[in-house]
Amino acid sequence: MKAVISCKANALSGNITVPGDKSISHRVLILGSIAVGETHVEGLLEGEDVLAAAAAMRALGAKISRDDAGLWTVIGCGVGGLHEPDQILDMGNSGTAARLLMGLVGTQRFTSTFTGDESLNSRPMERVMVPLRQMGAQFTSRSGGRLPITVSGSELIKPIEYELPVASAQVKSAILLAGLNAPGKTTVIEPQPTRDHSERMLRHFGAEVLTENLNGGGVKITLTGQPELEARDITVPADMSSAAFPIAAALIVPGSNLLIRNVGMNPLRAGLINTLQEMGGKITIENSRGEDGEPLADLRVEASQLHGITVPASRAPSMIDEYPVLSVVATCATGTTHMEGLAELRVKESDRLAAMATGLAACGVQIEETEDSLTVHGSDQPIDGGALIAANLDHRIAMAFSVLGMVSLNPVTIDDGSPIATSFPGYIELMNYLGAKIETR
Ligand code: S3P
Repeated sequence: MKAVISCKANALSGNITVPGDKSISHRVLILGSIAVGETHVEGLLEGEDVLAAAAAMRALGAKISRDDAGLWTVIGCGVGGLHEPDQILDMGNSGTAARLLMGLVGTQRFTSTFTGDESLNSRPMERVMVPLRQMGAQFTSRSGGRLPITVSGSELIKPIEYELPVASAQVKSAILLAGLNAPGKTTVIEPQPTRDHSERMLRHFGAEVLTENLNGGGVKITLTGQPELEARDITVPADMSSAAFPIAAALIVPGSNLLIRNVGMNPLRAGLINTLQEMGGKITIENSRGEDGEPLADLRVEASQLHGITVPASRAPSMIDEYPVLSVVATCATGTTHMEGLAELRVKESDRLAAMATGLAACGVQIEETEDSLTVHGSDQPIDGGALIAANLDHRIAMAFSVLGMVSLNPVTIDDGSPIATSFPGYIELMNYLGAKIETR
């Protein structure tokens, strides 16, 4: 446990990239493991969450290695070629790894047990168990549907049609991965579209996945089961959810000017950019292009005079992981920023609504919290800072408050910076290279 102390920063400047996308990294390890042949991956996120997924896929039968230049190779064993793991699968802090893999093994005829750290073992898993039971999987869980959980696949695997009761790409992806080993068509209906990396990557590996737009803004996704997946090479774009921290910092630290290259710009992930631009943020999207089915671009960000806005609930799925740092940005915007539709933030790596409301208030910010919204009253006066923030095993809370320290009168201390390594290895070094003053102790 190492405390992180963030002091007032110098203007941030530089030309950087950030680590690979966490969602895409998980998915390429999983799909590469069940494809036939060798998948080569450039730019894989080497954060603890993804390494936990890699270890689990090895335990399930795939061969996964990394060369000295950082190129990863996944040798798959085919959709039906996974085997029962010898050991309990430890997913660490990663909800994505836990939920996607529970889906993958939910239609395999063997038994596996999942566990995680204190944060993950407190998160709701019933949301994936409900549809997977309908497909034939059986579960034994701790009370409240929490990990550790043992999953046994059945002889009788049924494809289902399932409407998501919560907007969750993890639940959608768990069902689609289970559907790979089911005969016939598995359908997921999303009243609110969520990140579609699974659908894009499944198509890239040769599966048939149809997406139909529904009246009212929802989508219907249909996967044809038991495909032959073929190994495909992938370059993982930089993670928008990680880029969010230098982007936010550059907008609020006076005099900053940054170029962040190769950022994944999937429209279902880029809600933060629209929001910050609406707030008056100078973000220029340069060199837009597409690679392996995922759009990416370079982002030029300059310090800006920002104003508060209302961020509608309909935008939440496209920026769900970015609200902690957005609420920090909102402290530097004139007027009020009101963020709606945030109930899901209560069941992330920590209760992020409570963490932001408590931590920002302790730093002198006027903030109101309801069951599913946050309202931040910005100020043109510098924030006091000076508080000790509990990270609660939540990387994004730790990084968000490190950004707050860059514009506070007094340093902001985060009690434990170690969770940052789950998604953004090298974060502190990179921010300090740009002009931040973050120490660990
Ligand atoms: C993710 C989906 C989101 C997000 C998480 C990654 C994914 O979670 O918060 O960091 O890779 O599918 P939910 O599906 O719970 O919204």
